[in-house]
Amino acid sequence: MKENKFEFNYKVYDSISELPEESQWLLNEAREVSANAYAPYSNFQVGAVAKMANGQIVAGSNQENASFPVGLCAERVLLASISSLFPKVPIETIAISYRSDSQKSDHPISPCGICRQSLQEFEGRVNHPVQLILGGMEGPVYVIDSASRLLPLAFTSEELR
Ligand code: THU
Repeated sequence: MKENKFEFNYKVYDSISELPEESQWLLNEAREVSANAYAPYSNFQVGAVAKMANGQIVAGSNQENASFPVGLCAERVLLASISSLFPKVPIETIAISYRSDSQKSDHPISPCGICRQSLQEFEGRVNHPVQLILGGMEGPVYVIDSASRLLPLAFTSEELR
């Protein structure tokens, strides 16, 4: 028997003002785009904005439905748009933020499990890491160099070859 260990490093900034200028801009876009979410059931509005390797900026927000399982997270709305618009172009960075009338937006949120799976597959498709910038409307910001770090021992397309 041997024991394996998974660990990864990520950066923690005390506030958005410590980030490089381009990252600040992208996170501010994600904050703004969260206002476009359709989230009347959770009242939890998420914005995700990608900077593509071709310089394009693409935005997504969560879209809910009265039939709850139909809803889509901001990250997967974003990835679906990107795959449709620029199927072979790598994503350099995705910034994710959120707002809610009922709770504070003062710390980063991290993509849910299904979105981690989708992000991991996108990285694999174009063979390029997606940097994540995670932050609320205020407070600390996390920067993770590759979305796949959030999904150790992932089930991948390799298994289906
Ligand atoms: N949600 C996202 O859009 N992204 C996340 O990373 C976490 C959760 C959405 C799904 C649902 O519409 C609402 O937030 C509450 O879970």
